[in-house]
Amino acid sequence: MNRYSQRHENLRTSPIRDIMHAINVPGMVSLAGGLPSPDSFPALTSLTVEASQLQYGASEGEQLLREYLAESLNQRGIPTHPEQVLILTGSQQGIDLAAKLFVDPDTVVAIESPTYLAALQTFNYFGARYLEFVPGQNCYWPSQTNQTEHPSLVYAVPNFQNPTGHVYSMEERQGLAAACDQTRSVLFEDDPYRDIVFEPCDRTPICSLLKRSSWIYQSSLSKTLAPGLRLGYMTSSPDLFPKLVQLKQAADLHSCRVAQQLALALLNSDNANERLQQNLQNYTHRKSYFNDLLNRIFGDLANWETPKGGLFFWLKLNTPYRLDTRKLLPTALQRHIAFMPGEYFYPVLQSQVSNRSADHPGIGTLRLNFSHASEHDAAIALEKLAELIKISQVPH
Ligand SMILES: Cc1ncc(COP(=O)(O)O)c(C=O)c1O
Repeated sequence: MNRYSQRHENLRTSPIRDIMHAINVPGMVSLAGGLPSPDSFPALTSLTVEASQLQYGASEGEQLLREYLAESLNQRGIPTHPEQVLILTGSQQGIDLAAKLFVDPDTVVAIESPTYLAALQTFNYFGARYLEFVPGQNCYWPSQTNQTEHPSLVYAVPNFQNPTGHVYSMEERQGLAAACDQTRSVLFEDDPYRDIVFEPCDRTPICSLLKRSSWIYQSSLSKTLAPGLRLGYMTSSPDLFPKLVQLKQAADLHSCRVAQQLALALLNSDNANERLQQNLQNYTHRKSYFNDLLNRIFGDLANWETPKGGLFFWLKLNTPYRLDTRKLLPTALQRHIAFMPGEYFYPVLQSQVSNRSADHPGIGTLRLNFSHASEHDAAIALEKLAELIKISQVPH
């Protein structure tokens, strides 16, 4: 018998990774993952890699890329020196590092509910206990708990949240910063979608509003360059940075140097900004087209808010159709439509407290990605999905 770690008991497969396997089935239309459009990827010209670049590198990352990203962080209102930038192997790695730094079994982590599925997967693995908050509601967590039980870590995705698409108002940002300061809870701000923006909205980093608390801020190159490069980046308050670097050293020594060099070349290329603007135009068009499809096909079935950025629509099924969408998924996959049941994004399922439909808070929700499927395929997939929901309708 293998003697596994206790943490291993909390190991679960990610439903999204499982669905991603199904996506490779020929003919499958995916509205499931947060996949950027293949048309958005940069054209790759040849890249000369010097032999020295193939040597082991610095754990913090390639200096020129750190300089580029420090400048970008400065522009968004987070004063950052290049020495305070840590390159990550995807921003998913940042979640792992933050969890390793702060989460023991039973550590209280405050999260939006619903929240990013793979963050739940990581926090669960380390044994987190959750305090859920809704941006702008109540006074965040202090009202839910006694004074001794403040969260050690507060995980938030303030811009075009995954899965809801919500973007915090300035008031909500200030409220969350004040709550962190008041309880000396560490803010972990995850911002991978900030540049996928369709209309003007406040995107002030919440960490820049903090007065006392420590913080971690991270973003990604996956949504604006290419997810296959597996590159993200992180900065933090000075007290945390050396610890995060040490955790990175222990995790993978450093991120791929060739990928970093390629990313830097793409970010510095003459048409980098033009490409981003073109992608934003395409995504804005796709988002509007998808919204029109939803109005036509899902108008009576569900309600949603049109996202101001990001890659997702978040649907709540109307009462007569409010079924557990997890149960819909196998049939949907058989009919070559992949989507994400919304129930998976709630911590209640992950912590195994309750998996039953009746008392699940996210029942009747689904997340649909609009950036990957073609317009033609999206229309067909939505028609089929609506049909499935109608025939599966639970009598009330
Ligand atoms: C909120 C959030 N954080 C982190 C990630 C991880 O992104 P990556 O590891 O590709 O940088 C994602 C991916 O979709 C995400 O939605």
